[in-house]
Amino acid sequence: MSNQTYGTDEAINWFRAASPYINAHRGKTLVLALPGSTLKSDLLPTLTHDLTLLSHIGLRLVLCFGIRDQVDHELAQTRTPSHIVDGRRVTDSLALSTIIAATGLARNDLEARLSMGLPNTPMAGARLAVTSGNFVTAQPFGIHEGIDFQHTGSVREVHHQAIQSLLDAGHLVLLPPLGYSLTGEVFNVTVTEVATAAAIALKADKLAFLVDALPRDEDDSVLRQASANRIERLYGAAGEFHMAKDDATPDLSLEQILPNAVTACRNGVERVHLLQNDDPNALLRELFTRDGSGTLITAERWEHIRPATISDVGGIIELITPLQASGTLVSRSREALELDIDRFVVSERDGTIVACAALYLEDDSSTAEIACIATHPDYRGQGRADQLLTHLEQEARRRAFRYARILSTHTGHWFIARGYSEMSLDDLPASRRASYNQARNSKIYQKSL
Ligand SMILES: CC(C)(COP(=O)(O)OP(=O)(O)OC[C@H]1O[C@@H](n2cnc3c(N)ncnc32)[C@H](O)[C@@H]1OP(=O)(O)O)[C@@H](O)C(=O)NCCC(=O)NCCS
Repeated sequence: MSNQTYGTDEAINWFRAASPYINAHRGKTLVLALPGSTLKSDLLPTLTHDLTLLSHIGLRLVLCFGIRDQVDHELAQTRTPSHIVDGRRVTDSLALSTIIAATGLARNDLEARLSMGLPNTPMAGARLAVTSGNFVTAQPFGIHEGIDFQHTGSVREVHHQAIQSLLDAGHLVLLPPLGYSLTGEVFNVTVTEVATAAAIALKADKLAFLVDALPRDEDDSVLRQASANRIERLYGAAGEFHMAKDDATPDLSLEQILPNAVTACRNGVERVHLLQNDDPNALLRELFTRDGSGTLITAERWEHIRPATISDVGGIIELITPLQASGTLVSRSREALELDIDRFVVSERDGTIVACAALYLEDDSSTAEIACIATHPDYRGQGRADQLLTHLEQEARRRAFRYARILSTHTGHWFIARGYSEMSLDDLPASRRASYNQARNSKIYQKSL
């Protein structure tokens, strides 16, 4: 055997780690919405390269763009103030002609960038077909609270069959913030609405928005993941979102996006991503790393995850007893479980506990321990344990823990697939080593949060 050492190659390791995601994303539809500011930013060349790359590995891409900054700038040249009400422009004839011109320029710029293929660039040899067209039918937004929005429209229909056939043929479909009416008029439509309606009509797997700021939770921490229900609890029900209203809002403001994200989730889009628009790697990090990027909003696909209460002890015992008997889980007496019940979260379906997990947080440690993760055999393989694990990791991260640890006798590979690495008993802090059960001989896994 050669004793030559080759050193580590981060790029190669990253590529290997990303390969499951490459397979997972092939054939999936991503609708991405960009604010007008991104089209003018330094991020655009990287983003268009990344989109070409994504198209080449088989993602079906629909790119929606806004042009608010460009239109505000043009109107300011003629000293015409922009009139934005609740995130929508009041579009008079001058604003409409400015929007049509700005849309043409933005579209040409994007098409040119997506056509690049010079040698020695990330786009070398790439040949991406980009198509735009009359895919959005709009109707007048109308008069609201006495304000006539004139040429502002709302989406009536997205011609999804036409878009699907272009995606089938490998095209990237570009959707500007315009819609056409059955009477032949042009309407100004928000990019948020176009992207949401397109994602729903296309049954997209993902809808992503580039945003200036991510939403925050009750403790003012950035929200990394939330269900549509949680978003509503935090910000109010659709149509009455409680956020500061500001005439100067960008074309992709949270005030516009969050209710649309909830609508998308309720109408079959499984994942809505909010990505920070000043992070050039946000999109690829979201798609190709386990921890993702930004904020993920998901439909509540199954039963709700909730903290366990003392009345759940019986249900948890029923779930874990066979696993304790086989040695898969540590044996816990009813009394021990009752004492620890505040550490547990459960998934309940029709009054039955179908999955559970526990989180042990010690004040003097930077490592949180996750334990007793189990799904009832009838409900396995649908992502429930994954959802519980993510939930507990988030909780630990929120409480400023830096690592998550688990001890397992049978399920190490399940955790390795979720970003955990094996560590030796010697790496355990002395206090935890003291309570380590030598007879069980569990393997120890850890992940950085
Ligand atoms: C491991 C367990 C919690 C997973 O629950 P689940 O709700 O089915 O999990 P998910 O749906 O999120 O993940 C299922 C995937 O994990 C895989 N998986 C299940 N057990 C595994 C194991 N021991 N090792 C590796 N992968 C495993 C499944 O094959 C499935 O893969 P797929 O998505 O490619 O089909 C569940 O099988 C269980 O309760 N096992 C017994 C208890 C246990 O071992 N707990 C861990 C204690 S440390």
